[in-house]
Amino acid sequence: MISEKMQEALNEQVNKEFYSAYMYLAMSAYCDTIGLPGFSSWMRLQFEEESLHVTKMFDYILDQGGQIHLKPIEEPPKAYGTPLEVFETTLEHEQYVTRLIHKLMGLAVEEQDYATQTFLQWYITEQVEEESNVNNVVAPLRMVGDDKGGLMMIDQQLAQRLPPLPIAPK
Ligand code: FEO
Repeated sequence: MISEKMQEALNEQVNKEFYSAYMYLAMSAYCDTIGLPGFSSWMRLQFEEESLHVTKMFDYILDQGGQIHLKPIEEPPKAYGTPLEVFETTLEHEQYVTRLIHKLMGLAVEEQDYATQTFLQWYITEQVEEESNVNNVVAPLRMVGDDKGGLMMIDQQLAQRLPPLPIAPK
């Protein structure tokens, strides 16, 4: 069982995870249009990863006897600037999501909601990985600057990203 306040906060986070998925899908399209298929594929897989974040939280709310409240999803931008700016926006977004997850954990601690604390621990660990993955792309992008050859090499590396593993069944 979860409190009504926690139910609303988790539903709000479902909406934010949907937005993340939506934004990465928009970024995937954008990268494709600027001729970077590897970037586009990486973003497409990031979209899939975010979709898993959505359904994991959705299932938890239902498992706790809560109600699902699906809200409208904000429209993401269509264009994201240079390849470096695409990943800087991604990093800023993931840092924002980390703050949201920490705030949720704060509420779970305040309410002595131990089940939700255990559940959210997965997202806290996941955010460390998400930020690290993005930092691992931002750093080489900063290094290559405007060098087209360097950019093409990064594009090829990003194309190697594997699809996310399915989240373990409950
Ligand atoms: Fe669901 Fe990228 O955080």
